[in-house]
Amino acid sequence: MSDILVHTEAGIRTLTFNRADKKNSITSAMYGALADALAGAADDPAVRVVLIQGHETVFSAGNDIGDFLNNPPAGLDSPVFRFLKGIATFPKPLIAAVCGPAVGVGTTLLFHCDLVYAGDNAAFSMPFVNLGLCPEAASSLLVPQMLGYHRAAEALLLGEPFMAEAALEVGLVNRVLPPTEANAYAHSVAAKLAAKPLSSLIETKRLMKKGQSELVLKTIAEEGASFGRMLREPAAKEAFGAFMERRKPDFSKV
Ligand code: COA
Repeated sequence: MSDILVHTEAGIRTLTFNRADKKNSITSAMYGALADALAGAADDPAVRVVLIQGHETVFSAGNDIGDFLNNPPAGLDSPVFRFLKGIATFPKPLIAAVCGPAVGVGTTLLFHCDLVYAGDNAAFSMPFVNLGLCPEAASSLLVPQMLGYHRAAEALLLGEPFMAEAALEVGLVNRVLPPTEANAYAHSVAAKLAAKPLSSLIETKRLMKKGQSELVLKTIAEEGASFGRMLREPAAKEAFGAFMERRKPDFSKV
């Protein structure tokens, strides 16, 4: 059984995080599978819409911390950057259904989706600072744009989680549903989009995004360079060590 399920039917490619025992944390191999499935979907005329979903109890706990330490991303051709570039440049409609925790990239990937549906148990967080790191996936650009600077600072400097209703209020989420209904509802919206003319969908999305598409890619690269450097520094080592040892990190010396 794969950690990423890829299913294509009636013009909809559904990518499902399938690693619930590890809270759908994402390994390098999973980033690679996601990047390949997105690249294939972009080129395949039989795919008109992509839906990313998790389980009704958890969307994703973000990067798999152990895998991240053992296989840190090496350059812009690494699986994680192929994935980030893939979602940032995906030309067709991209929908997400999010229930339960959406940590780190589990939240930042949503800023690249066109429509987001959340279970009322969804909890979004971007705790990069608490991990001795910095934002990724162009979140340093996109989060202030969507949330406004002060709420972005709360989310990115304090790293505090916010729930589905708050995400709805700031426009990160289109609709909040019972967790048992979120994936099915997102799928019904995907079916609506799949029935529309693909060329119009692609052109409309391109026009909406074109104003800053280059800046988004530049920001992903700039954040990536800092993130890669910070991953090797003492603050991140302390934070990840603390997670593995199930203790509170001590940043007093870093
Ligand atoms: N990387 C690797 N393993 C992870 C993980 C991650 N990001 N998140 C959870 N897991 C693993 C746990 O180690 C645990 O494994 P075990 O059963 O072998 O001990 C299992 O998933 C269940 O996690 P647990 O923490 O017990 O679940 P919870 O329901 O109490 O909490 C979260 C869920 C998502 C809030 C919590 O797991 C968490 O904060 N994870 C880390 C998130 C994070 O910092 N991500 C990195 C972003 S860059």
